[in-house]
Amino acid sequence: MKIERKLHISELRTGMTVTRTEKDGLHFPFFDKELTDTRPINVLKNSGISYIYILDEKEAEEDKEGELSDKLTEMMGNPLETSDYFLIDSSPAVSDIIQARAIFENMRNKTRELLGSVKSGGKVNSRTAGEITGELVEVSTYKPGIFTAMTHLKNQDDYSYSHSLNVAVISLALGKRLGKSADELKTICLCGLLHDVGMTRISDRIIKKPGKLTEDEYAEIKRHPEYGYKIITSSEGLPAETAAAALQHHEKSDGSGYPLGLPERQIGNITKIISIADVYDAITSQKSYNHERTPSEALKILFSWSGKHFNETLVKFFINTIGIYPVGTLVMLDSGEISIILEPNKKDLTRPKVLVVTNENREKLDKSHIFDLARYDLRTMKPLKTIVSSLNPKQHGINSEEELDRFAKRFRNAVREAL
Ligand SMILES: [Fe+2]
Repeated sequence: MKIERKLHISELRTGMTVTRTEKDGLHFPFFDKELTDTRPINVLKNSGISYIYILDEKEAEEDKEGELSDKLTEMMGNPLETSDYFLIDSSPAVSDIIQARAIFENMRNKTRELLGSVKSGGKVNSRTAGEITGELVEVSTYKPGIFTAMTHLKNQDDYSYSHSLNVAVISLALGKRLGKSADELKTICLCGLLHDVGMTRISDRIIKKPGKLTEDEYAEIKRHPEYGYKIITSSEGLPAETAAAALQHHEKSDGSGYPLGLPERQIGNITKIISIADVYDAITSQKSYNHERTPSEALKILFSWSGKHFNETLVKFFINTIGIYPVGTLVMLDSGEISIILEPNKKDLTRPKVLVVTNENREKLDKSHIFDLARYDLRTMKPLKTIVSSLNPKQHGINSEEELDRFAKRFRNAVREAL
């Protein structure tokens, strides 16, 4: 059993072992290690923390937890050289991703049920829709780490259902970034979830057609906004904004959209949010284009269309919400290593946490590990590693989802073995 003692930071000395600080989520590479040097002590002292917890020396012999800590330290990045002490906020990115997946899967089943019943019954069950959006808003409020991971999850098996849920999640994230109230967020989320409900009226023969659509088939697809509007207005208990979003989400700022060719001033504010989320998800999904684009490519495309197709300011907010390097993006580091973006860094969008999956010669590692690009060498004040470019996963034979899953499995096994 580990016995901790609370101590004022000024009392911290070499020979003591810090277990945690008063501030949750702070990552300090010397937790649970005896401090033999004054430099990490100074880093803690300069971090604005008043109290820390140290291991009571009398009880320190039991070392099972030490084993766990060592194992996880190995996975969470290589032990530090003496020069690169650092202190950063660290939320548990891997466990967030695992939990987000479970929640997302459950939501996807509910969305399938919701849209499936529209297909057979013709109306939207506003209660089920409200449950889905209520839960999403709750996760986004109380479990922001998990929600952030959810905004980047994708499941390509079932595009029609996944797309609706993806757009709901991404629109909600943008709504939060814009500072909308909880009620507004619920409405935004609902608009995202139901924006393509009209697609339930299009025959599977057209939707699942592998080749190019004929002119008539394409014209039929373009009627889904009208169908959606009719479905929503004939259903009960849905806010008016949902009908507007279903009808207008393919309208464009310059008036070149459909079905009505509305100019920007006549497009609803929530619809403008939904349109951006819709196109972002479509571009990054395999289904709608012949090849999947990376999230960074998708953001570039959105940016190039801002002002023409989308509201310019909203696109800027959107890029800020998703991050320059969204989770799952494959990137090249200046060390030559290929990595996957794991967790955005709100303070510096260019310095997220990454999962390093190859060595400097781009050979796949047996054991990937986490590296924090916010790490600086405190002697030179230069970052240890930097992103050079984003990469197309297919060209490098790396599947981000598989790599993240493999890492998560090792992470779980390490915890299980050590306990
Ligand atoms: Fe649509």
